[in-house]
Amino acid sequence: MRYKSAVPIAKAIEKGEGRVTIRGWVYRKRVLKEKTFIILRDSTGLLQVVAPTGVLDHLHIESALVVTGFLKRESRAPGGVELHVESVDWTYVGEPYPINEDAAAADSEHLLDLRHLWLRSRKMQAILKIRHTVFKAIHEYFGKNGFYEVKTPMFITAAVEGGATLFRVDYFGQPVYLTQSSQFYLEAAIYSLEKVYVVAPSFRAEPSRTRRHLTEFWHAEAELAWAHMDDAVRVGEELISHVVERVLSERLEELKLLGRKTEILEAAKPPFYRVTYDEAIEELQKKKISINWGDDIGADEERLLTRELEKPMVLHRFPEKLKAFYHRNDPERPEVTLSFDVLLPEGYGEVIGGGERICDVRELIDKILKFGLKPEDYQWYIDLRRFGSVPHAGFGLGIDRLVMWITGVDHIRDAVPFPRDVRRTKP
Ligand code: 4AD
Ligand code: MG
Repeated sequence: MRYKSAVPIAKAIEKGEGRVTIRGWVYRKRVLKEKTFIILRDSTGLLQVVAPTGVLDHLHIESALVVTGFLKRESRAPGGVELHVESVDWTYVGEPYPINEDAAAADSEHLLDLRHLWLRSRKMQAILKIRHTVFKAIHEYFGKNGFYEVKTPMFITAAVEGGATLFRVDYFGQPVYLTQSSQFYLEAAIYSLEKVYVVAPSFRAEPSRTRRHLTEFWHAEAELAWAHMDDAVRVGEELISHVVERVLSERLEELKLLGRKTEILEAAKPPFYRVTYDEAIEELQKKKISINWGDDIGADEERLLTRELEKPMVLHRFPEKLKAFYHRNDPERPEVTLSFDVLLPEGYGEVIGGGERICDVRELIDKILKFGLKPEDYQWYIDLRRFGSVPHAGFGLGIDRLVMWITGVDHIRDAVPFPRDVRRTKP
C-alpha cells in the first residue's frame, strides 16, 4: 500500500526537494488551462500539488488523495514548496462537499449541524490541537507537583452544586444523577493520598443558552489536605499559568492562525490580582451598576470587572448564601465564606470556582440544615468528618472555558469538538 509510506506534509515541506509520497484531503482546487493546482491538507499542514490538467480535476474539496512526486521550491506556494505529481496512488473522490467555508462562516448553526465535517476546517484543527496541549499540560502540572490522579464516578446520588441543574437518570428503576463535580469524591481521596486531582466531564442541566455554558463540560478538579483557601488559590494560579505557557511554547502557529493576540496570554503569571467580593461590589457601584452587597456577580458584572484586566483575577470571600453549603465560613467574618473564583481577563470571566471546605462535623451538619438540605442525603460526605478530619481546600477549573479564552473564540461551543447545550445533542 503506497499510502503507508507517505510522509507528513510538514516533513515534506521541511525536506523541500526530492521524491516523496504524501497523503491528505483536498483543501482548495484551481483548474487552469494546462495545470491543476490542488492544496492538499493533512494534520500537519498544507502543500500545493501540481498536476497536468485532466489528472486531478475530478476531485472535490475534501476528496482523499495519495500522490507521489517531486518537491520543488516555489515562493508562491504555501510553505514555499510544491509537489509535481508523478503518480496518483490512491483516491477517494466522494461527493461534493456540503460546506463552503465562506458561506459557512456566516451561519454558525449550519456549522454546528455539520460539526462532524467542520472538524476538518483549519480553525477547528487549530483549536483541537490547542485543546490537546491544554489537557496534556494539566496532567503535566499535577504530575510534577505531587498530585495523584483519581478517577471518580459519573453516576451520583446527591447534588454537589445545587439541585436545580441535576440531570436525572433512570438507574434500574432508581433515580440517580449525572455528576456536577467530582469534588466530594476527591475530598474522600485526600485522606488516602493528600493531594489529588481529576480530569473528567461534569454535567449541568443549564436551561439557558449562553456563551459560556454547556450541559456537558470538562472539569479539572484538585483537592489538598492540610490546606487553606490560599493554598488552593496558588495551585489554581500556577495551573493556569503552566497551561498557558505550554500552549505558547507548543502552539504558537495555531494561535497565529486563529488571530489570537498573545500578549495577554504571556502576562498570565502568578500572582494574579486579588479582589474581595466587597471591593468588587464597590467597583461595580462606581461603574453605576445597580448592585448591592449580597447580590450575585453574574456574567455581565464579571465582564465589566475583567474587560480591561491585564491578567486573571482572584475574586474571594463571597457572602455565605452565594456559594455552596460546603464552604467554610471565614472565622474572622462569618457572613462570608473562604470561597474564590478565578476570572479571566478580556471579559471572559469565571474559569475556576473553589475554596476551603468545612472541616468540623457539627459545623457541616448545621450548614446542611441551614441550606435546607437533608443530612441523610450527605451521609458519606459527613462521615469524612467523623474520622480524622483535617483542614482542606480545592477547586474546579472549566477546561472548555480556559480553551475558549486561550484560543480567543467568542463562544464556548467553538472550544469543544462536539458541544452539548440545551438544544443540541447531535452530532
Ligand atoms: O464553580 P463551579 O460550579 O464549582 C464546582 O463545581 C466546585 N464543586 C468545584 C470544586 O471546588 N472542586 O464549577 C467550577 C468551574 C466553573 O468555574 C466553570 O469554569 C466550570 O466549572 N463550569 C462550566 N463550564 C461550562 N459549562 C458549564 N455549564 C459550567 N459550569 C461550571
Ligand atoms: Mg462557580
